[in-house]
Amino acid sequence: MAGPDYDPVEVTPLRADEVARMRTEALVAIAATETVDALKQARLDHAGDRSPLALANREIGALPPQARKQAGRRVGQARRDVAAAIEQRGPLLEERAETSMLVDERVDVSLPYDRDPRGSRHPLTTLQERIADVFVAMGWEVAEGPDVEAEWLNFDALNLGPDHPARTMQDTFWLAPEDAHLVLRTHTSPVQARSLLTRDLPVYVICPGRVFRTDEPDATHSPVFHQVEGLAVDRGLTMAHLKGTLDHFAAAIFGAGITTRFRPSYFPFTEPSAEVDLRCFVCRGISPDVQTCRTCKGEAWIEWGGCGVMNPRVLVACGVDPDVYTGFAFGMGVDRTLMFRNGVADMRDMMEGDVRFSSAFGVDV
Ligand code: DAH
Repeated sequence: MAGPDYDPVEVTPLRADEVARMRTEALVAIAATETVDALKQARLDHAGDRSPLALANREIGALPPQARKQAGRRVGQARRDVAAAIEQRGPLLEERAETSMLVDERVDVSLPYDRDPRGSRHPLTTLQERIADVFVAMGWEVAEGPDVEAEWLNFDALNLGPDHPARTMQDTFWLAPEDAHLVLRTHTSPVQARSLLTRDLPVYVICPGRVFRTDEPDATHSPVFHQVEGLAVDRGLTMAHLKGTLDHFAAAIFGAGITTRFRPSYFPFTEPSAEVDLRCFVCRGISPDVQTCRTCKGEAWIEWGGCGVMNPRVLVACGVDPDVYTGFAFGMGVDRTLMFRNGVADMRDMMEGDVRFSSAFGVDV
């Protein structure tokens, strides 16, 4: 028990130097805080109920009355100083937090927003659909056949018997085993035979699709490419119908006034046969532009495909009476068409599947 002569100096936490030390320690800690959370912790440590100064404050009651006033004043002043330092530091740190939040969370609204760009359909796909649409609008139907085709449909039915010299015109991928007589179709013409064998007459079909030949890839060759085949079999069809159809096709894809011309040629499945040329849609064959035209290379015409009147032997092979029905057929390369139509210089660009190539044609679906 403390007597009236109790010496407050003996109550260590209340000694002037000790209070000064606690005050300094608190002020240093508060000044060192860098965040609002750190200041919260400093407040607990130095101004909370269990802080050294708060504990010292509790000791005052134990002093003799004459000693209390001075000790109370000393501790009270230290606590007020600490509280004032916290009060001052708070808004400063809050402002700092807000500023750094504004910097850290800044959004640059001028940055490109389209980080996940839309894909785009391949121009070969869209061109094939566009061609098919031209024919569907005339009442034709779209027909398809498989990539792996029976030798008979790819060759024999089209008047390309086993010993026909024209078989070697197309470098063929033969599939094992040999006696399965399967090939990767070398052209879309087997769809002609398939259509005649499975559909009721008259037949008007347009057949876009993938074909295969054993060509090394380079700027103008690929072992996989695309053709579009047309076949019409009806009563009374003539070469004039073929010419009119191809002229309409040319105008629909290359512009009004673009027509075709025929040059005599040979295909086993047509007789007579012709090569189809397209009037150059850039210079239109008109002098003097034609002389420097890079699209037709000064020719006024662009080679487009093959065509002809159905060979009766094909009709017979497919069960169609050639005395009642006649027909015509044509076939052209879609890749080649895209190349000269859209100025694609290298066929490999069409094969690589780089979306930048496709999206140059637009992202419309
Ligand atoms: N199938 C021929 C080829 O790949 C192209 C062709 C020529 C198709 C004349 C035809 C045609 O339908 O009548 O070279």
